[in-house]
Formats: sequence, structure tokens, C-alpha cells
Amino acid sequence: MHSFAYRNGSLHCENVNLGDIAAAVGTPTFVYSKKTITEDLAEFRRALAPLNAHVAYAVKACSNKAILNLMAQQGVGFDIVSGGELWRIINAGGDPTLCTYAGVGKTEAEIRYALEKQIYCFNCESENELREINRIAGEMGVKAPVAVRVNPNVDAHTHKYITTGTNENKFGVDITRIEQVYATIAAEMPHLHIKGLQMHIGSQLTEVKPFVMAIEKVKPIVEKFKALYGIEFWSIGGGIGIVYDGCLASGKPEWWAAHPEQITIQSYADAIIPLLKDLGLTIIVEPGRRMVGNACAMLTTCLYEKKGEAKTFKMIDAGMNDIIRPALYEGYHEIWPVTEHSGDTITADIVGPICESGDFQAQNRAIADVKPGEVLAEMSAGAYGFSMSSTYNSRPLAAEVLVDGDKWHIIRRRQTLEQIVEDELLPE
Ligand code: LLP
Repeated sequence: MHSFAYRNGSLHCENVNLGDIAAAVGTPTFVYSKKTITEDLAEFRRALAPLNAHVAYAVKACSNKAILNLMAQQGVGFDIVSGGELWRIINAGGDPTLCTYAGVGKTEAEIRYALEKQIYCFNCESENELREINRIAGEMGVKAPVAVRVNPNVDAHTHKYITTGTNENKFGVDITRIEQVYATIAAEMPHLHIKGLQMHIGSQLTEVKPFVMAIEKVKPIVEKFKALYGIEFWSIGGGIGIVYDGCLASGKPEWWAAHPEQITIQSYADAIIPLLKDLGLTIIVEPGRRMVGNACAMLTTCLYEKKGEAKTFKMIDAGMNDIIRPALYEGYHEIWPVTEHSGDTITADIVGPICESGDFQAQNRAIADVKPGEVLAEMSAGAYGFSMSSTYNSRPLAAEVLVDGDKWHIIRRRQTLEQIVEDELLPE
């Protein structure tokens, strides 16, 4: 459950009126709730307590230094996908030895850096990558800890751009070939130490069934690998979905009681624990979205309104460069006025200032009839929101704020125009 709610007619994050933040910092601004993040983490740990489980936060979802530092203080591990993310963890006070490193395209420099920093394990995605890590580790005189990502060929029933566990995807090694790949590592790659097995079937899964199917399918292989290679962990990936449509209401327990079908940390844990608890292995989970998604709203200001023949448009000061999810995945984010309205709902498109027809945050949406100057909150913006933003159309990156009770802190200053161009050069 998150910490955004109307109080006395104004939308608050914890005890802070979002209108006060918008007035002080301007918009667009991403506002995160510390309480939501720490409570959700505690819930993961409580729910998974019957297992020897470790949470490795998927950094790509939101990689602000203050958020990573908050996680690091709680002793969380990290699932990273680049040398840059590893650098960020260290810079934010995180422990590199708690990092697992996934991704299909690790470079030599990144592999060397990760070996120097003694990460927990490389999650490898191909045999050629394993050979490359073996070569580099040999040169450095170390043994590289590795796991291979198995692709279980299970359909996650999610958007086609964020499904990863079928054999049509670039990720991992097919389940039909995984045993042969482990045998090859053992026989031919002396500078690798087989430490575990990894899988991840997709993101924003709203039901537990695909997780269960993938675990059931891969479990016999895990048991075999434990016996053959003494593996110590099985990472079952991330992917737990959050509430997008219904986000604001889901800040209250009544909403959850009325939506028993919605996946929760507890229903996920209840479904997987019986399958995993007798394995005698460390179980790693890699949630990204579920750790930060509902913990943030992006504040934006309504600039103009335009009534066309067919549609009404509300122009806002945030674009697809700030949140690309609607344009890229048909992502749905609720949009609420920070000052509560009553009874003046209209149907409109909420669009940004960017010169692209795909630059919308909502289409044909029933929304309060907000007027220019009013501040809006785009909900469920914490995961893959700021982290996927860009400066397209020379728009500075947004500011970020962390709320803690009745205090708030700027955790990223709004980018300046000078900063956008500071690395550009004229030819000599
Ligand atoms: N582990 C691996 C290996 C992954 O590839 C991912 C996400 C995660 C964990 C975390 O998944 P999560 O718990 O956040 O679902 N930008 C897209 C989502 C891309 C997910 C990429 N991989 C979106 O905005 O929906």
C-alpha cells in the first residue's frame, strides 16, 4: 500500500501537500515516498521469511542515488545490468559483493570492473559471453562467479515489449540447451565458478500462475545442478506487477479487499514458497517495479486546453521524454489534480509539448476538468519513469524529491540547459 491520498482537498504524499512541492521546485517533478519504499521492502522480507531469500533490487527501475542509498541502508542486494549501475551502487554506498550482473551485452571493460569489485555473480545470457568472462578472469588470475539465465519458454501474459521468458526473446539460454551449457562450462572454462541459476520471465505480471509454471518447469534442472555442480542460489527474477489502473484508491485497505485477484507480495510468496523451501538453496528475487512503482507520483502542470472537433486536449508540461511508458508500452497511469475536484469530469487526451503524436500520457481519459495552471499528479511513476527519461526536444531532466514524514528533500536538482549541452563541442 502506498502513501498518496487526498487530505482536506489536497493530494498528499505522506504528510506533505504535493502542491507545496510543486510551488517550491516547479514541475515536472518526481516525488517518492520513503515510507512506501521501506514498508514494501519489509513486506518482501516478511513474506519470504520461510525461504533463505535475498532481495536484489533491479536498479534499472529507478536508480537515483538517494533511493539506492535508502535500499543499501536496509542491506538490500542489487540486480544490475551495466558497469554504470555498478558504479552507481558503489557511489551510493551500496555493497558490490551483493550485486548480480545481468544483461546480454556486457563489454570487456564492464566485466573487468565487475571482477575487480568482486560482485556476487554474473548472470550470463549466452555461451559466448561465458567464454569471454572465462578469458578475462583467466587474464586477471581470478575465478569468476557465474550463473546462466535459463529461458523457460513460459508466456508471462504481459506486454510484448516486456515479456522475456519465451524462446522468441533475446534473453537467456533455451531450457532445452541449458544442461549442455553447464556441462560445457564445467569441462572447458576453468576460470569460472558455477554459483547458481537465474531466470526472469517478464515484467508487470498481474497473476502468479506464470511464476509458478516457470518454477515448476525449471526446478528439476536446479536440483540436478545442485547435485552436479554444488550451486548455491537460484534467482527467480523479478516481474511482480503493480496497480496502475486504481493506483490512488489502492492506497487504502478497502481497495485490496475488493480486488482479491490483484497480485500482492504475499500472494506471490504464498504461491512460490511451497515449491522452493525444500531445495536448500538461497533464493534471490529481483523486484524492480514492485519496490518503487507505486511509491512515486510525477507532478506536472496543465498549460493549455484545446477543444478540437473530435477531442479535447489538455496540454501539460511533462512529455514522453519524462515518462515514456504510455508511448512505448501503451502504459496506463492515473492522473489526478493535486487540488481535488468534484463532479466536473470530462473526457480528454492529456498530451505533452513534444512534437510527436505519440507524446501523450493518457488518451480518451475521464479526468477532472483541470484548468491551465493547475498541478496534476501522474501516479505509479516510480518505476521506469525517471530512469527512462531523456532530454529529447532539449527538455531538461526533471527534478526528483524524496518525502519522509512531514519533511521532503530534493534528491535531484532540475537539469539546466547548460548541463544539456555541456559535453557538446564545435569541431576545431
Ligand atoms: N530481473 C531481470 C533480469 C530483468 O530483466 C528485470 C526487468 C527485472 C529483474 C525487474 O523486473 P520488474 O520487477 O521491474 O518487473 N521498462 C519496462 C520494464 C522493463 C523491465 C526490464 N527487465 C516498463 O516500463 O514497463
